[in-house]
Amino acid sequence: MSGNRTLTMIKPDAVRKNSIGGILQMINEAGFRIIAMKYTKLSKEKAGEFYAVHKERPFYGELVDFMSSGPIVAAILEKDNAVEDFRKLIGATDPSKAEEGTIRKKYASSIGENAVHGSDSDENANIESDFHFSKLERF
Ligand code: CMP
Repeated sequence: MSGNRTLTMIKPDAVRKNSIGGILQMINEAGFRIIAMKYTKLSKEKAGEFYAVHKERPFYGELVDFMSSGPIVAAILEKDNAVEDFRKLIGATDPSKAEEGTIRKKYASSIGENAVHGSDSDENANIESDFHFSKLERF
């Protein structure tokens, strides 16, 4: 069911700061239902694959190192208009520009270490969900 699902990752910085619980609470309170969830760690290779679209960007190496630096929580979330509504909930990529009440405003420390990921389109939500989860892991 495309259009009502998105993929999130609670990133290594937020896991290290014990922010998993607080972030999941904000996600639930905003009306998202958890379809799939796992606590896992990306290898450098898998992090590079996930962010392959950014391969040519100057921050790609830093991004891959950071995303493979510790465990993450990956989850598929469901809600009407999931991709857009979740991006509103997480706030701007740069936390200094994120609005009050957003996850990044509360939990992110920099543009690189920005606490959470959210898919940027329905197409990428599907690709990213398939990257982390088999069909049998979705409920
Ligand atoms: P995310 O939404 O996961 O998607 C791409 C990520 O690249 C982004 O969050 C940031 O963590 C990271 N990113 C984007 N711009 C920069 C930047 N200028 N420097 C470092 N990391 C960046």
